[in-house]
Amino acid sequence: MNILDVIAHRRDKVPHLRDELSFLANGAANGSIPDYQLSAWLMAAYLNPLSEEETAWLTLAMAESGERIDLTGLPKPWVDKHSTGGVGDKTTIALLPVLAACGLTVVKMSGRGLGITGGTVDKLASIPGFRLDLTPDEMKAQAGRIGLALTGQSPNLAPADKAFYALRDVTATISSIPLIVSSILSKKIAGGAEVILIDVKCGAGAFMRTRQDAEELATWLRKIGTLCGLQVTAELSDMDQPLGAAVGNALEVREAFEVLRGGIMPMPSQRFLELVRRIAVEALTVSGKLAEKEALVAVEQSLMTGKALAKAREWVQAQGGDPRVVDEPNRLPHAPVVSTVSYEGPTGSVQRVDAAEIGQLVVDMGGGRKAKSDEIDPSVGVVLDVSVGMQVDSGQQVATIHAATKAMADGAAERILKALTVF
Ligand code: URA
Repeated sequence: MNILDVIAHRRDKVPHLRDELSFLANGAANGSIPDYQLSAWLMAAYLNPLSEEETAWLTLAMAESGERIDLTGLPKPWVDKHSTGGVGDKTTIALLPVLAACGLTVVKMSGRGLGITGGTVDKLASIPGFRLDLTPDEMKAQAGRIGLALTGQSPNLAPADKAFYALRDVTATISSIPLIVSSILSKKIAGGAEVILIDVKCGAGAFMRTRQDAEELATWLRKIGTLCGLQVTAELSDMDQPLGAAVGNALEVREAFEVLRGGIMPMPSQRFLELVRRIAVEALTVSGKLAEKEALVAVEQSLMTGKALAKAREWVQAQGGDPRVVDEPNRLPHAPVVSTVSYEGPTGSVQRVDAAEIGQLVVDMGGGRKAKSDEIDPSVGVVLDVSVGMQVDSGQQVATIHAATKAMADGAAERILKALTVF
């Protein structure tokens, strides 16, 4: 097979044969096709999008381009969850212990932050000692022991995606739905799960800004997932305002464990807990483990009885972290400057909390990367006391800032107030 023919077919809208896509994925994974030819194909595929059938073939070829985690022998159902990414999205950290406490086997590969959307790997890395480099064998053994395991992106799983993704990032070809879908699902297939729950974030603080784009992505994820033999659910969730109260790595870990403790939560955290509940119920029902009513009860019980919290401790310990962080958040990295922000103005209700601005603020404070090689400061960030719909009065505290310096905290306070729309 000749790569020039494969590129020309895409350019001229000649449908690809399955073999052509396998050739392409293998060539990307083993480096036998140079970047300039992969880039040419990617741009042709961006301009002339792949059909559903071609996308399914490419997904499978990318999944087969490296190692796969074989979960045979572990109790079914095998579940994975994916978020398309958003500001303050720490759902995985609270959800996985709930799912495992309810009897599911969960294996998950997570990524680093991308732009203003933080990554689960960066958040969990703020737990002292927590390992994010588990091998496929370690993943399987741990999932067998405690019901859940999470690792960072392994170079061995779906290596074709790694090559494509790096090129898409620098050739303006990221936002192609077939390419996004094959990228997400190939990694899920390589990770071994059969039931995949995808949280498609939609709004100012997400990759998909409009409802229409998010709906289209969700539809494609379901269709291609089915064509690849997976059970995929893809539901939209709002990302116009940050998810939950905390934005910033260690602060988000703290909030994720706090919601597992149950009890009365402040409104922003309550919204986050609702999403965790919704996805957990979905996981239990879609996988066939429980009917909806039973699933609701099981999820609630895992929270009320402390089973989910106990699972979180087991998880942190199993991956080499200090399990005391689950109950004693002051063991997580903390920032030297902590200050509060108060609203000044007429009484009104919060109409908007600009997720993009809050996400960018935390990146600018050092909580995210601007260049690939940047080090993250896990301790910095913002904890919001308000969310859309809440009433605020003049003088009321609306946020707490955790910063490295006083100057940084002062600048952050101004930006937080600008990010709020109240009337
Ligand atoms: N997440 C992925 O894993 N791949 C994409 O292409 C976009 C988001």
